[in-house]
Amino acid sequence: MARWTPKETAFMREALRLARQGWGLVSPNPMVGAVLVKKGKIIAKSWHTGPGQPHAEAAALAEAGSKAKGSELYLNLEPCNHQGRTGPCSEVIIQSGVSKVYYSVPDPNPIAAGGANRLEEAGIQVDRGLLADEAWDLNQFFFKYVIQKKPFVILKTAASLDGKIATRTGDSRWISSKASRNFSHHIRAGVDAVLIGRTTAAKDNPELSARPWGRRKMHNQPWRVVLDPLLKLPRDLKLFDPKLGGPTVVVSSFEADQKAKDNLRRQGHTVWEVPKAPSGLLSLSAVIDEIGKAGLQSVLIEPGATLASSALIEENVVDLIHMFMAPIFLGGSDSPSLLGGRGLDTLSLASEVDILKLGRMGPDIHLVLRPQGAFAAAPHQTVSPVIGYGSLNEDLDELYGHDFDQSQDQDR
Ligand SMILES: NC(=O)c1ccc[n+]([C@@H]2O[C@H](COP(=O)([O-])OP(=O)(O)OC[C@H]3O[C@@H](n4cnc5c(N)ncnc54)[C@H](OP(=O)(O)O)[C@@H]3O)[C@@H](O)[C@H]2O)c1
Repeated sequence: MARWTPKETAFMREALRLARQGWGLVSPNPMVGAVLVKKGKIIAKSWHTGPGQPHAEAAALAEAGSKAKGSELYLNLEPCNHQGRTGPCSEVIIQSGVSKVYYSVPDPNPIAAGGANRLEEAGIQVDRGLLADEAWDLNQFFFKYVIQKKPFVILKTAASLDGKIATRTGDSRWISSKASRNFSHHIRAGVDAVLIGRTTAAKDNPELSARPWGRRKMHNQPWRVVLDPLLKLPRDLKLFDPKLGGPTVVVSSFEADQKAKDNLRRQGHTVWEVPKAPSGLLSLSAVIDEIGKAGLQSVLIEPGATLASSALIEENVVDLIHMFMAPIFLGGSDSPSLLGGRGLDTLSLASEVDILKLGRMGPDIHLVLRPQGAFAAAPHQTVSPVIGYGSLNEDLDELYGHDFDQSQDQDR
């Protein structure tokens, strides 16, 4: 028997839907939605729109004013109990006269935690755990960062059915459909950084900006991070265009030419120096640590074959994989595959990934995979942190104000 009624569940679902509006806008804060209910009807609702803006519960209570007295408040995250850029939400709730608070998951941040206990001390009824899985799921970037001080790592890749990322002549644009590419921009829009290898930067000359379609406007672009051990990349690449805004970080080895590092810094770019891994390539774990030290909670790796192999096989740093497989075969023993590197010696060394989703994205197959050892906020968790796992198209339509199906043209 479910502990919660269908109505209670529906109100919390609405809080989660509202929270998701904060995708790409709220970092380093979590996405939070609030629904205020009185006599079985919603009287106010809100969501957190970004750092320094009112918290969701404070905004909903302000909207309700004196009507909040005797109401029930639904939140996907425990209300905070500390004075940050805004005041403690626990006190705002107590002042408002709310009689009961439902929340899905506790706040793991030791500075902000304790809100629920404070409410109970003040005589407010507290109900914990409603739709907890979805709520853990939604804010995985935030939870991993708060718990481990490391960013959540997503790897996205596109291939043909035979696992090729380009033809034998190097033609790779575009393997995946427009719908898959749109979805990739949606992921970029939600992460704090995008990471690529030197060869992809040189060959594809990507901008690495998030260009989500439809009405959604980006407040901040993700940081662009490129691995260039010896600083060989030409400076006329789009990545280095100052008009893009936001930082470009070049990750180099300690051996790279000091003058080249100084020049990059003078041009306004950031240079990180990291040690090498046993493979002789830059240590990806060290790169991920640097990204965390910069205060970034999430990174999307868009790898070529070499970087994919480092990330998935040699260093195992990935928390979630989005893989798009186009319904085509490319063949060719010399055409590049998803993973390069040395490869494993025996099957016994291969570790299985969990398949979280096996679905379609336009004409493509869309796989969401979780490697062994990936971060999971809750031990039983089985779904993806990138929004829209359950009802993808409706979520995307709502965020982007566009019928997602109409963007699914067949050209590659
Ligand atoms: N289908 C897709 O989803 C997709 C996505 C991205 C790229 N691509 C394609 O992939 C091709 C490029 O792939 P690639 O394998 O040649 O190169 P890559 O993975 O883009 O870049 C590899 C280079 O990055 C540098 N690097 C430094 N540390 C590294 C580390 N820990 N792991 C990996 N690389 C590190 C090294 O540069 P140095 O050589 O200077 O040491 C290395 O040779 C392009 O044709 C591109 O179009 C396809």
